[in-house]
Amino acid sequence: MADYVIAIDQGTTSSRAIVFDKSGSIVSTGQLEHEQIFPKAGWVEHDPKEIWNNVREVIGQALSKANLTRHDIASIGITNQRETAVVWDKNTGEPVYNAIVWQDTRTQAIVDRLAKDGGVERFKQKVGLPLATYFSGTKIVWILENVDGAREKAEAGDLLFGTTDCWVLWNLTGGTDGGVHATDVTNASRTLFMDLETLAWDEDILAAFDVPKSMLPKILPSSGVFGEADSHSLLRETPIAGILGDQQAATFGQAAFDTGESKNTYGTGNFLIFNTGEEIVHSKNGLLTTLGYQIGDNKPHYALEGSIAVTGSLVQWLRDNLGIISSAPEIEDLAKTVDDNGGAYFVPAFSGLFAPYWRSDARGALVGLTRYVNKGHIARAALEATAFQTREVLEAVNADAGVDLVELKVDGGMIANNTLMQFQADILGVPVVRPVVAETTALGAAYAAGLAVGFWSDLDDLRKNWQEDSRWEPKMDDAERDRQIRLWKKAVTKTFDWVD
Ligand code: G3P
Repeated sequence: MADYVIAIDQGTTSSRAIVFDKSGSIVSTGQLEHEQIFPKAGWVEHDPKEIWNNVREVIGQALSKANLTRHDIASIGITNQRETAVVWDKNTGEPVYNAIVWQDTRTQAIVDRLAKDGGVERFKQKVGLPLATYFSGTKIVWILENVDGAREKAEAGDLLFGTTDCWVLWNLTGGTDGGVHATDVTNASRTLFMDLETLAWDEDILAAFDVPKSMLPKILPSSGVFGEADSHSLLRETPIAGILGDQQAATFGQAAFDTGESKNTYGTGNFLIFNTGEEIVHSKNGLLTTLGYQIGDNKPHYALEGSIAVTGSLVQWLRDNLGIISSAPEIEDLAKTVDDNGGAYFVPAFSGLFAPYWRSDARGALVGLTRYVNKGHIARAALEATAFQTREVLEAVNADAGVDLVELKVDGGMIANNTLMQFQADILGVPVVRPVVAETTALGAAYAAGLAVGFWSDLDDLRKNWQEDSRWEPKMDDAERDRQIRLWKKAVTKTFDWVD
């Protein structure tokens, strides 16, 4: 049998392919960034063709770096930025519009229109999500209403919708020549259209959104065979055997398979996922109810999720829009030029505020400024924003779960930043723990794909691969922690009601 599994991680800023061995260690990686397109304030787009070309190229990079061919690869896993919506013509393979990214807020008017009858929680009991611009559903409606000819083509059955997992799967399995149009339960649970209990598209909700069912992919388990790479692919005839949205993949990669286990990923945004097992738990504290994973025909696992829109992307913003750093890792050196935030608090409500507030009328604010504040303080306030937002999500998880998390497993790009991780432990008051393989997103997709083809035998096989790398213990005293959190919460209130 082949010795490796490959995972494709189609993320918000880049696409990567990572080859893993049986121990879950990384063998080789390919990575390419794609353009972030900002046509107007609040709009964020990607070019789906660029994404697909990059995916093909990074697969080639990863294979050639380790001198591997398709014969060495047992199966392919796909993980992806969730909610980002692609609509394409199934006869030509051409997208009818750019991908509308999860961060995009253009659909607020559609959200308001749908919320008129029943409020933003109108479908929450069924789908676990409030009406918000974040999810794919309103993005599809925008395309149908604003792209010339899209509605007619969709009604005629010529258009397909998918999140980027689905777009990559369709192209990888042949595109116009028999491509598989499917997604997994975790991605489907981010559309606003999937019934959490039946795991099927809900006809009533589709009618309310006026979206033809023929556009939607088939919903399949996260771990199971979706199809085979087509004859033009470097990986031809290799099964695509696992798909999970990136946050659920990271949870799987952290081996948080059981009820009560959790992880927090520090990427473009932050996403804390808390596994609730086979039970669908509805949050009373601003969390989403979402699918965790489904292995074959087994019962699915559900989760509560605290989604934060802007964390790592605030560092990119300081780099790209203000130019106060020239590369993202420099933020730590700049933050270390000062001892504290100098009284400054930065609330990055660039896409409104997600959990636990769900305020689409919020916009970013930097408050507490005096002549004393310099760019070091601003860098520090930006890092601290990630930790404070995580604190608020953890408070919500603890309140919903009825027990306090005793430690936080972390992963993602920003966990390389020791200053942030120490402040995170300080502001949470519980230890923060990093695993040896921090690429848990890709690893989770590889695990799902490997399980489905017998590369790994069961979840216990995967649990053995998890090893602790570092641990940060809280050092801040309680009074200072309380003061910091009080000031942060006050800063948050300054961001409300900014949309005319
Ligand atoms: O829900 C959005 C999330 O899936 C994006 O993750 O890592 O691409 O920022 P990331």
